[in-house]
Amino acid sequence: MADRFRPAPFRPQAPGQLGWADVTPPQAWVNRRALLAGAGAALALGARAAANPIPTLEVIDSPLSTDEAPHSFEEITTYNNFYEFGTGKSDPARRAHTLTTSPWEVVIDGLVERPGTYSFDQITEGVTLEERIYRFRCVEGWSRVVPWVGFELAVLLDRVGVLPEARHVAFETLERPEEMPGQRRDNFPWPYLEGLRLDEAMHPLTILVNGLYREPLPNQNGAPIRLIVPWKYGFKSIKSIVRITLTEDQPPTTWNMLQPQEYGYFANVNPEVDHPRWSQATERVIGGGLFPTRQPTLMFNGYGDQVAHLYEGMDLRVHY
Ligand code: MTE
Repeated sequence: MADRFRPAPFRPQAPGQLGWADVTPPQAWVNRRALLAGAGAALALGARAAANPIPTLEVIDSPLSTDEAPHSFEEITTYNNFYEFGTGKSDPARRAHTLTTSPWEVVIDGLVERPGTYSFDQITEGVTLEERIYRFRCVEGWSRVVPWVGFELAVLLDRVGVLPEARHVAFETLERPEEMPGQRRDNFPWPYLEGLRLDEAMHPLTILVNGLYREPLPNQNGAPIRLIVPWKYGFKSIKSIVRITLTEDQPPTTWNMLQPQEYGYFANVNPEVDHPRWSQATERVIGGGLFPTRQPTLMFNGYGDQVAHLYEGMDLRVHY
């Protein structure tokens, strides 16, 4: 999307003192979006908001949120990677409305006590939704701050009961080419696959996300349910999940299968280990119009205090 269509970032004045929803009531976000809608997806979104009010999710604040100011709804929903809808950054916002996200089912199988096919409602029933404002760093070298809504993956894994032999968690995205135009090209090994080691999956920072800015997650960001692992490069955070499998062996993952020398299984944000084709030492903060900010990239994307212990004794140049 051309920069001139992107509204100025929404940055409230007193980060950390109030929740973002206290600063700006949900109705104002909807109105703001309707007002600011300039073109394409933003226009469609404004029309949708006018015709059909967007429900507000019941959400509590989390001490695990960063106090950095989140990027605007427009910035988070118009510049995306979701190859199922095309490889351009604006393709998901223009095309993902074709995805049917209800009804939605997730198969949970492998090394679990209660395997089965669970509806979206069963998965989210009774869970306390939290707003988690997280830093997000893409392996391509850009970053932003996002107010996700979700709950810890550990809550779901505890509910289905992880068997003692399980060591990894594999995730799979929906494969539905009739609604996902990118899947009608055979340039990619669909479906998109990702995986985490079990201790990473059980970490309190690892969440399943079903909302953004306290509203249901927009399709282009991975509706109705996706993974977010804030200390890893964004490609680990798989969208529109339909299968979660507990395994003993490390599962195959899409980018690692395609280009193993470029994309590792761990994919921890690490400014000291460059991608073979570019440095990872700094990142471009999205937004900012003609004068984008570059900032140093932080080890584990700034979450080192919470996660570094997971990798003690590992050579992160080998296990990149
Ligand atoms: N999940 C699926 N199914 N397909 C994708 O193409 N792209 C990944 C990740 N999850 C992707 C995906 C990449 S490369 C990034 S950076 C993030 O989603 C982008 O998430 P966002 O668009 O919500 O910022």
